[in-house]
Formats: sequence, structure tokens, C-alpha cells
Amino acid sequence: MEIIGLTGGIASGKSTVSEQFAQHGWAIVDADAIAHQLTAIGGKALPLIQEAFGVDYLQSDGSLNRRKLGRLVFANPALLETLNGIMQPLIRQRIAEKFDQAATAGQPYVVLDAPTLFEQGYQDDCDQVVVVSIDLGTQLQRLQQRDGFSLAEARQRVASQMPLKEKVARADWVIDNSGSWQATWLQVAWLIDHFSMI
Ligand SMILES: Nc1ncnc2c1ncn2[C@@H]1O[C@H](COP(=O)(O)OP(=O)(O)OP(=O)(O)O)[C@@H](O)[C@H]1O
Ligand SMILES: [Mg+2]
Repeated sequence: MEIIGLTGGIASGKSTVSEQFAQHGWAIVDADAIAHQLTAIGGKALPLIQEAFGVDYLQSDGSLNRRKLGRLVFANPALLETLNGIMQPLIRQRIAEKFDQAATAGQPYVVLDAPTLFEQGYQDDCDQVVVVSIDLGTQLQRLQQRDGFSLAEARQRVASQMPLKEKVARADWVIDNSGSWQATWLQVAWLIDHFSMI
């Protein structure tokens, strides 16, 4: 089984690209979706987050107040580290389980969609790494539009990540998603053909 890592900046278009891989029938392991499940009610991470950050970050129904916790940790690197210390080992464990499941199911390709792929060292588990790149102006615009952030909030989220340039420099393959849907679709179609041939 070939493991293809997929990463990039926030709102650069990872989910858009992974959707195309999924439509081609490849298995997707989505690190963000795993994080979401872990922090949902009944998820393994929720009690640990409550212990570390207090009930102030839960809603009255016991679910996580994601926006409030996001605002806190993205403005405070030490607290982001605390949250990562809770989340990353649990995410790593789930990713390993999902890789095992895909291998058992006989999947020839599995795509690991992970925003912090390089930061967490997952490139060592991947046969190829694809980075979805975007120009900063378009990234900030799409981020504001999708998540309702102010320009300052969007800038803060981008600044809290490894610079996209650095990810591009470490990539085996780069998809430029600064243009139209069609332009990106063509690049991904080419990549799927290319991977299928090697
Ligand atoms: N080529 C495109 N043209 C116009 N809009 C796009 C294009 N690609 C993605 N978008 C939009 O930009 C936003 C971000 O895309 P997407 O969710 O795929 O990024 P992401 O990298 O997965 O984001 P995140 O880091 O939050 O997981 C979405 O609202 C999506 O609909
Ligand atoms: Mg995404």
C-alpha cells in the first residue's frame, strides 16, 4: 500500500484535493476529522481538555466550544502546545489504526490529509508528499469567507503555522490552488494518473 501525504496551509485547499482522490476511490485518512471525533461528546480527548483548560471551554451541553478554545490557543503558543500534547498522541494512534484497516481492506493507495504533516513528522510514514499551495492574498480571502474571520484573525491563523514556502520546499509534488477549481482539478487528475503509473 502506498501512503500519500497531503498537506498545505490553512484553507489552501487540502480538503478540496483530497475529495478528488476520494472520488477516484482512494482511501482518505483525515487528521482533522479524527481530531473532531476525539473532541466530540464521548471522544477520548474531551475529558483531558476539560481537565487542562477548565469547564469554561465547554458549552452547556458538554460539547467543546471550539471557537473559544481556538481563539485562546492561537493567541498563545504555550497553550497551543498544551492542546497539541493532548491531541497529537491520540491522533497518531487513530491514524495508525486507519492505515491498518486500509491495508487489511487491500487498498492500493491511502491519502493522509494532515494540516501539520511536517510538524508532526508524518512524512516519514509517507511514500510521497503532496503540498497544496496558494498565494497569501487568496488564502486570506478564502479563509475569511469560509470561517467568517476578520482579516486579523485570518492572518493570525496563517502566522501560527509553518510557512507554506517551507512546506513547498519539502514537498515531492505541489498543487497550486490559487486559481480556478478547474485548474486545480486538472493538476490533481494528472497526479492521480502519474501515481497510478509508477
Ligand atoms: N480553486 C478554488 N477556487 C475557489 N474556492 C476554492 C478553491 N479551492 C478551495 N476553495 C474554497 O476555499 C476554502 C478552503 O478550501 P479547503 O477547505 O479545501 O481548504 P483546506 O486546506 O482543507 O482547509 P483547512 O486547513 O481548514 O482544512 C473552502 O471554502 C473552499 O470551498
Ligand atoms: Mg480541510
